[in-house]
Amino acid sequence: MKTKINREDCIACGNCSAICPDVYDYDEDGIAFCHIDNNSMSAIIPEKYESLIKEACENCPTESVIVEENKEGEQIEY
Ligand code: F3S
Repeated sequence: MKTKINREDCIACGNCSAICPDVYDYDEDGIAFCHIDNNSMSAIIPEKYESLIKEACENCPTESVIVEENKEGEQIEY
């Protein structure tokens, strides 16, 4: 699974980083980003965070949490 924040739509509500602080952080303006890969959506996020990422996605009021499921055959890194 890969994830990033659509920072143009983030309204700094803080839900994503409250739900999954190991994946999401926010800058001095409160705008969130995925700190694992600096919001580049290049890293495969460890499987243990998948349910929290989905929860963050469901709880973002502006649907700014972008999630991409693993593609078939993609290696999952731990
Ligand atoms: Fe922003 Fe949504 Fe997170 S508004 S702080 S991306 S929950």
